[in-house]
Amino acid sequence: MTPFKNRITELFGIDYPIIQAGMIWASGWRLASAVSNAGGLGIIGSGSMYPDVLKEHIQKCRSATLRPFGINVPLLYPDIDKHIQIIIEEGVKIVFTSAGNPKTWTKILKEKGITVVHVVSSSKFAHKAEEAGCDAVVAEGFEAGGHNGREETTTMVLIPAVVKAVRIPVIAAGGIATGKQMLAAMVMGAEGVQMGSRFVASEEASSHSNFKNRVINTQEGDTVLTMKQLTPVRLIKNEFFRQVQEAEWKGAGVEELKTLLGRARAKKGMFEGNIDEGELEIGQVSALLDRILPAREIVKNVWDEFCGALSNPVKKI
Ligand SMILES: Cc1cc2nc3c(=O)[nH]c(=O)nc-3n(C[C@H](O)[C@H](O)[C@H](O)COP(=O)(O)O)c2cc1C
Repeated sequence: MTPFKNRITELFGIDYPIIQAGMIWASGWRLASAVSNAGGLGIIGSGSMYPDVLKEHIQKCRSATLRPFGINVPLLYPDIDKHIQIIIEEGVKIVFTSAGNPKTWTKILKEKGITVVHVVSSSKFAHKAEEAGCDAVVAEGFEAGGHNGREETTTMVLIPAVVKAVRIPVIAAGGIATGKQMLAAMVMGAEGVQMGSRFVASEEASSHSNFKNRVINTQEGDTVLTMKQLTPVRLIKNEFFRQVQEAEWKGAGVEELKTLLGRARAKKGMFEGNIDEGELEIGQVSALLDRILPAREIVKNVWDEFCGALSNPVKKI
């Protein structure tokens, strides 16, 4: 596989502009180091980790790869100060922030020489991230798994809009799992892709095998963006979702929804494998997935397909 150079590969020091998304209950050191060793950028998802667990994952990741890797930090995490402190102490070089105001931490991280990327769901937020000093943005469309924007802007519309709105490089996310989809995003001006759902269905993801198997058996229409009152999230329509839906139909407010979610539903579903009662975050693109693969093979397949499509992009008669 011939390495490729653009602003994103240069920013992170990677061979291919393929980024494995930071994901709660899925992306620990095993997945992140496997993706980084394959020439992409692996990211540890700190959102489901206590500070000491995060520290352990950073150290294990560093022992498993000599290549760059990053940490995803959801900015609303209650112990965020401790996470940031560990990231700085451990000498992590790349941080992807999400779900919060990029102004709060970007300057502090940048002063420590850390490359900062922020995840956005609109041009307005992309502009704010650029103003806050971020080095790049991830533009995440409506199709994406996990927490998402309220405005429902699809990747197809969001990418060109964000590319137009900012000068910093844009990484496309939401609904991307193949090389052809990657090429489409890059034709629209993205300089890299971030894939979440594709990497949940990997051997190295720490998610429960029940969840991974549910993901590769998902059909079109099986996921939905819900809980907009609280914090919008795309998940599989299972028994837990039906409970949320019923509560919403009965006019449940934020507090009631919090109580429903409060019983560690995400952990129960994605990590402990209770696919009925747990919250199963995944993107629409899960409908295209039918195999759990090693992370290295995912990176290789996507890159090979991207290169093939690049040399022969459209069908002609
Ligand atoms: C299981 C799961 C957990 C996720 N957890 C996080 C998270 O902790 N922080 C975050 O910024 N995004 C999270 N996301 C969103 C991903 O980072 C990524 O942007 C998204 O999955 C891209 O869309 P795709 O699923 O269509 O590839 C999660 C996504 C999934 C599927």
